[in-house]
Order: sequence, then structure tokens, then C-alpha cells
Amino acid sequence: MFQGTIPGPMRSIVRETAGGWPRGPVYVPCCGNFTIERSVAGMGFALHSSDVSIYTSAVGRWLTRQPVGIQLREESCDELGWLADSLDDGVGTVATLMLGTRFLASVGREGLWHERVLRSYREQWEVKHAETVERLSGSDVELASYEVEDVRSWLQKVPRDAPVCSFPPFYGGGYEKLYEPLEAHFTWDAPEYEPLSDDDVVSVLGAITDRPYWLTASNHDVPELHPYLRGVIKATPRAAPFYVYASQARTRIVAPRQPIEPVKVPRLREGDELVGPLTLSLLKPGQFNALRSRYLNPKIAPGAANLAVAVKDGGGRILGVFAMAPSTFTPDEAYVLSDFAVAPTDYPRLSKLIVLVATSAEAQLLCQRAFSRRIRRVATTAFSNNPVSMKYRGLLRLHKRSPSNEDGWKFQLQYQGAMGQHTLAEALEMWAKRWGAPMTKTGV
Ligand SMILES: C[S@@+](CC[C@H](N)C(=O)[O-])C[C@H]1O[C@@H](n2cnc3c(N)ncnc32)[C@H](O)[C@@H]1O
Repeated sequence: MFQGTIPGPMRSIVRETAGGWPRGPVYVPCCGNFTIERSVAGMGFALHSSDVSIYTSAVGRWLTRQPVGIQLREESCDELGWLADSLDDGVGTVATLMLGTRFLASVGREGLWHERVLRSYREQWEVKHAETVERLSGSDVELASYEVEDVRSWLQKVPRDAPVCSFPPFYGGGYEKLYEPLEAHFTWDAPEYEPLSDDDVVSVLGAITDRPYWLTASNHDVPELHPYLRGVIKATPRAAPFYVYASQARTRIVAPRQPIEPVKVPRLREGDELVGPLTLSLLKPGQFNALRSRYLNPKIAPGAANLAVAVKDGGGRILGVFAMAPSTFTPDEAYVLSDFAVAPTDYPRLSKLIVLVATSAEAQLLCQRAFSRRIRRVATTAFSNNPVSMKYRGLLRLHKRSPSNEDGWKFQLQYQGAMGQHTLAEALEMWAKRWGAPMTKTGV
């Protein structure tokens, strides 16, 4: 029926999770190919779906008996006039768009292959179209409503306690390109919306997960959602894994899960003044995981730390964390696995203080004790969309820049630096002079 088959385990996890939810309305933003709706069909939910794409909206409107509202563009009539009889503002139009995803990209393109694709669809159109209409008509998916709307505004209308089930885009951009060939030849009352930025993706995820019942999935591993990981699905041995996260459900496939231990120590907050002297305290693995899940960018993959250290100010408040491991090939080097500052605070450059502390003489002593070897240098890797890391600039030396091998970043930047050339007190003094001015609040 719709594009793509749903891997069996995926269908089972979605059904099993939704099985524990109160029967009633379930909301499905970014519904795409209706994978979720197809997985929970027949379970007694009233499914309310939404999306912004031309393809999804054609299917969604047809499933809810609304006019599809999509016509061939005037300028495409010469080339594609042979589709006109199939466009009936209902299932015929939906079938045309579905088939269109397979051949419209070849329209107006030169080359034997494109010509052959187009000729074969044109010659067999009536049969292919009739078959697609028949398959669509046998669908068991029922929707209570479908709306063409941006996920950001739509989620605000969803009742706070209602279950939300969605596979939203996990990174900004990208989906608009998918249906470009359809948009090029068809006109419709397309919604106006800004493509999702990476920050929007994070807040959409927040709005989905901030409720009693939810399920979401992605082909990206999201460290923040680790406590909610319900299954990792590989459709074929070579396919990329698909991670399913949910509020309440039994764990299906046991994937490595990190222990989490709450950290009760206060953190520096907005309005707090950072005061010296700085101190260091060792963190247990669970405490490090808890702080990392809270503050580290979700796009940064976690690694196991041999030594995790909290940096505190004179008021005993946590300012940030760094975690080290001995470098594999360089005996006197410590590798900074992660370093991050707490947020939000009044200090926009607080992360630079954590780097200075991580390279201090006191941190060097901790590393030497933990790794039982002499440590003189540090190294680290930063993933960034900029050619330099603003955090490490001026503190460590950029040693190598290469294209990123991690999704979502342009560059992989290798930094190196000396360790133990300043004390904690000197680190604070240096930072306070160059980067420590608190943000000035306007209009207060
Ligand atoms: C990962 S796909 C959804 C997969 C889907 N559950 C399925 O069954 O295939 C993401 C969907 O989000 C939609 N989308 C992208 N930006 C959006 C936005 N700003 N508001 C609503 N939907 C959006 C895309 O059109 C696409 O259909």
C-alpha cells in the first residue's frame, strides 16, 4: 500500500507500547508514510495525524474523506497531460502522486534511462494506476482527523495528557527535498512554515516526550533518551539501526543501557555569581551519565570514561564536568572524552573555564593517579559545523581538520595541548579576565 514496508519488530514494539495506553485519541505529528497509523490499526484508537508534505497530505485528506485539493500545474500540462484523467480529487489523485514519486524525477531529464522510465510509466499507466487505486482502497487504516500543519504549532493544540506517537525529523532540513518532483508538477494549498532547525528538532522532541504517554523513533541514537530506549531494530543485517524510545513499555531488545544515578549537588544557575576557589570532585559512572544526559549536546555520541570529574565553584555548585581516558597510542597523553558546562547560567563562555580546568596541574595529578602513568599532554576531538571550535579556540592547538564521520556535523577537529602548566586558581584568574564577564541583562 503506502511506501515502504514496516519491519515486523517495529510494528510489534509500537503495538506493544500503545497496548498499555488508555483507549481514546492518539496524536501522530510528522506522520509521513503513516507507519505508526498502520502499526496500531484496529487497536481502538482515534488517530489524529498531521504533516506538511504534499504526498502525506494527499493520503491523509483522502483517508479522512476531505477533497485532496491537488492539481496538475498548468506549465506541466504539455508534458503530463496524460495524467489528467486519473486526477479525481480523491483516491485517483492519491494513486497518481504515489506512482509519481517513482517517475516524476525523470521528467525533463536527458538520458536513455530517464526516457525509458518515463516511457514505461506512460505506456502502462492505466494498468499501474488501476492497481494502485485497488490496493489503496483495501487499506485498513482509519484516521479520526488529518491536518496539514507544522508540528510546532500542532503540538501546542494537542491535549497535555493525550498520547503522542511520532517519528519526527531528528535533524533540521532534508524532508523538503524529498517531494520536490511532486511539488514541481502539482499545485496545492501548501502550508507556509520555516524548515525545522536543529534547535527546533530538540524542542519538538521535548514537546513529544513531556507527557505521560509517548513513543518516538529515529535512525539516530539520542543519548538523552537512553533511559527510554525500548528497542533497536535492524531491518536487514546491513541496514542502519532504528532506535525506538517510549514512555512506558517493556524493553524489547536489550541494548546497552547506561546506569543513571541522580546528582543532588546544586549547579550554578542563572542569577548565581561564580566565586572562587575552584575544586574538583570525582564522579561515579552513573553520576557522570546523569550529568552528561542533562547537559551534553544530544548529537555527541557517548564514550566510556575512565575518569569523570565535576568542577565546583567556591559555593560548592557544579560548573561543569570533564571526563578523561588514557590515549591509546601516545603514552603521556590524556584524551578528553567530553567536557561541558552546566546551563543556563549568566556566563556564556563557561565551557572555556572547564577546558582550562581539565588541563590544569590538579587535573593532571588526577589523571596520573587514575592511569598510573606520567601525563604531559591532552588531546580531544570536536565535531562542529564551523572550521574551528569556539570552545577550544585560544586554549588548545588545532592539529587536524577533516570531514566529519558523524552524522549532523561538517568537520571533525583534532585538538592538542599541554597539561599542567597552570593551577586551578590561575585557570580561574585567566578565564575571569578574558571570558568571565557575566551576560548583561537588558530591560531589567
Ligand atoms: C521521519 S519522517 C516520518 C516518518 C513517518 N512516521 C512514516 O511513517 O514514515 C518525518 C516527517 O516529518 C515531516 N515534517 C518535516 N518537517 C515538518 C514540520 N515542520 N511540521 C510537520 N511535519 C514535518 C516530513 O514531511 C516527513 O513526513
